[in-house]
Amino acid sequence: MKINEAYVVYFSPTHTSQRVAKAIAREVEVSEVIPVDLTLEKPDETVLPASSLAVFAVPVYGGHVPPLAVERLKSLRGTSTPAVVVVVYGNRAYENALVELDKLVTSQGFKVIAGATFVGEHSYSTEAHPVAAGRPDAADLQYAADFGEKIGEKIEKAATSEELYGVDVRRIRRPKQPFLPLFRFLRKVIKLRKSGIPLPQAPSVEDENLCKHCGSCVRRCPTGAITAGDELHTDASKCIKCCACVKCCPHRARVYNTPFGVLLSECFKKQKLPQSIL
Ligand SMILES: Cc1cc2nc3c(=O)[nH]c(=O)nc-3n(C[C@H](O)[C@H](O)[C@H](O)COP(=O)(O)O)c2cc1C
Ligand code: SF4
Ligand code: SF4
Repeated sequence: MKINEAYVVYFSPTHTSQRVAKAIAREVEVSEVIPVDLTLEKPDETVLPASSLAVFAVPVYGGHVPPLAVERLKSLRGTSTPAVVVVVYGNRAYENALVELDKLVTSQGFKVIAGATFVGEHSYSTEAHPVAAGRPDAADLQYAADFGEKIGEKIEKAATSEELYGVDVRRIRRPKQPFLPLFRFLRKVIKLRKSGIPLPQAPSVEDENLCKHCGSCVRRCPTGAITAGDELHTDASKCIKCCACVKCCPHRARVYNTPFGVLLSECFKKQKLPQSIL
């Protein structure tokens, strides 16, 4: 079976999901790879043809597909269009996210022929408290490339679209999670919640002198929570805590010092590996 083009569809505030999705799509051997970036806006209602492949990639937020990504993904429909579903998580756990993404795109008319879970640097990772820092690394991207190549082979082997069989993403292997660090994490989270210490509701600019009003955070914010000309403030009611503004700030003026970042760094040191099914 011949696929003409691949659509790489991603919601990716800090770019890890985007990098993984593009590394996969590059190896599928198609005439064109078309990026569909859902991070900053909802795309126009579009039907992706059955003769194309869609690679969907989203980050995991609280074990789920981010609600904003769900809303934006609903603009895209398939006509039994073959699809690959990928979730990228910050080395803690992806919980229901892959199954949710699978259900969503299936209900939108896509046929899921492959799935994968990857680790990306956690949005809350800092130099002082790293969480999966530098992921996806070279090995992850090689895994993504090999996965893309195998998807290409699977498509090529199928004589017709009916022969291109779907997969049950619930059968993907879950990464091993040592019990003690998980137990420690859960205990610390309960303690933190009981302490009543208020958690920051959005990133902030602690040292106003550091901000050079370059506007990068305004351009990268998926929800319009930062206003041009008023970059020192953040509208917490709009903020989804994605940390795009923190990671893109060239002057390190924006910070998001959540105690969760410290707990994640302490408890999820052992690096998890990508997994896939096809
Ligand atoms: C609000 C929020 C919630 C998150 N929840 C989880 C989670 O439940 N499990 C996990 O392992 N990582 C979690 N992460 C980390 C992201 O999944 C991870 O950093 C991912 O690579 C970000 O993708 P992006 O670079 O495409 O934005 C969360 C990040 C944010 C901002
Ligand atoms: S990216 Fe940083 S320096 Fe630039 S406007 Fe935003 S906070 Fe200021
Ligand atoms: S203000 Fe909030 S939503 Fe906007 S980029 Fe920063 S963390 Fe993300």
